[in-house]
Amino acid sequence: MEKQLVLLSLVALSFCNFAFADEQALQDFCVADPNGPVRVNGLACKNPMLVQANDFLFSGLNVAGNTSNPVGSKVTLVNVAMLPGLNTLGIAMARVDYAPWGLNPPHLHPRATEIFTLIEGSVLVGFVTSNPENHLISKILKKGDVFVFPKGLIHFQQNLGNGHAMAISGLSNQNPGIVTVANAVFGSNPDISSEVLTKAFQVDKHIIDQLQSKF
Ligand code: GLV
Ligand code: MN
Repeated sequence: MEKQLVLLSLVALSFCNFAFADEQALQDFCVADPNGPVRVNGLACKNPMLVQANDFLFSGLNVAGNTSNPVGSKVTLVNVAMLPGLNTLGIAMARVDYAPWGLNPPHLHPRATEIFTLIEGSVLVGFVTSNPENHLISKILKKGDVFVFPKGLIHFQQNLGNGHAMAISGLSNQNPGIVTVANAVFGSNPDISSEVLTKAFQVDKHIIDQLQSKF
């Protein structure tokens, strides 16, 4: 029995080592080479001899995003597509602008936790835990507050004021991805069939048609 336990612990330990080893970077950086022919979990590295300071630079996050849209918010994401030096580093950044009462609608990041710092305004934030609890965790933030949205959970932010609000977020992946719930469910391409959606949402087809026409 004891022997089995020792064996099990050894197996668990070597698995842990393997998992950790897998997560360790094996080089200082791997600037993305968008034209690289090799398919990896991410993007191939540019020849380090050809890397320049500009590969690690993105300029323009001082510029407010255009919030003239039905929800009144704009996320300006700086991911590996805009900043090749982020490749393999597991980090990205976003600026979020809100018109008065603007909403960053319920969405999730499939590959990242988000740490959100409110720079200007007062904003209601929230996320919902997974089934079966679906517990809403929410808070009204003031300037300087920092809030975290765990990876993969649906979250939102709403500006609670008549002025502009602005936040900066860090995301724990160089390509965090954004899935906006309403767009994914009611605006998929092609459409999810109305039989599926009427049953899933327990409403009549005309409501589904109306929602699908908006996304
Ligand atoms: C961006 O994705 C945000 O939630 O702030
Ligand atoms: Mn988010």
